[in-house]
Amino acid sequence: MRHLLSTKNLSRDEAILLLDIAEDMSDTQLREVKKLPTLRGKTVVNLFFEDSTRTRVSFEAAAKRLSADVINFSAKGSSVSKGESLKDTAQTLAAIGADGVIIRHAASGAPQRLAESRWIDAGILNAGDGTHEHPTQALLDAFTMRRRIHGDASRGKDLDGISVAIVGDITHSRVARSNLWLLRTLGAHVTFVAPATLIPFGAAEWPATISYDLDQTLSEGRPDVVMLLRIQAERMDAAFFPNEREYSRWWGLDDERFAAMRSDSIVMHPGPMNRGLEISSTAADSAQSTVLEQVTNGVSVRMAALYMLLAGEREGA
Ligand code: CP
Repeated sequence: MRHLLSTKNLSRDEAILLLDIAEDMSDTQLREVKKLPTLRGKTVVNLFFEDSTRTRVSFEAAAKRLSADVINFSAKGSSVSKGESLKDTAQTLAAIGADGVIIRHAASGAPQRLAESRWIDAGILNAGDGTHEHPTQALLDAFTMRRRIHGDASRGKDLDGISVAIVGDITHSRVARSNLWLLRTLGAHVTFVAPATLIPFGAAEWPATISYDLDQTLSEGRPDVVMLLRIQAERMDAAFFPNEREYSRWWGLDDERFAAMRSDSIVMHPGPMNRGLEISSTAADSAQSTVLEQVTNGVSVRMAALYMLLAGEREGA
């Protein structure tokens, strides 16, 4: 694998191999091996044009645990704020000798543009581009589901027959899109649940069931996994409907809905959470919640992704 830009073009075998390598990375951490020498001498750049806590810190921890040198770049405080282009930024990183670039960008397609350019010869990892994709988030979500469902027997397994309800701001969510493609590849059934204003045009063509009624999905579908998405207020205009009060009333996982869920179902959220809007604190902090497990697993999954892209000699373009 040369780049990790999307989950749409990952085969089932590639996805399972990556999740199995993440299991190996996780085992290594459990044995308190602080660092593996795998990427010694390699330079990884965290190139973040949008804010992040989990993804940036997790990629940094993953790269350091593989002994890579890590350069953190944030658009704020860099020459991007003086108008420097993506091309000039990439060529600067190439001149520094970057072997891997982890990029988050507000523009859908920016990671692909870097990967297809001649500006830099490095492995490109998409850390979230616009409303397009966030592949490592979907991979750590699948890893977390697989662990909860198959336990110690997870290696080699997919998610065949699992039902996953993804609830919330589907329109603006790169997490929803990356999860859909990966979950379908792994055999799961996906239902998107949202008010009609937060389901994007064209979603009817996607391999997912669309529901506007969370109570019906929870009572009739009895999903194995309920994944709440953040309401992305920064990407909404003033005409956003429903408003926050209506949203939490009809589409939020509040205490009452959480109490009515199957006791063996899983509650997920990629973070950052709007507590009291899309998820109640009771649900977020419950034993059914995997919110912090997702963060922990993110380090193992990102170690696996960096390993697959950067260990050994890079293939030709
Ligand atoms: N889940 C996620 O992408 O979180 P951050 O925005 O904090 O990286």
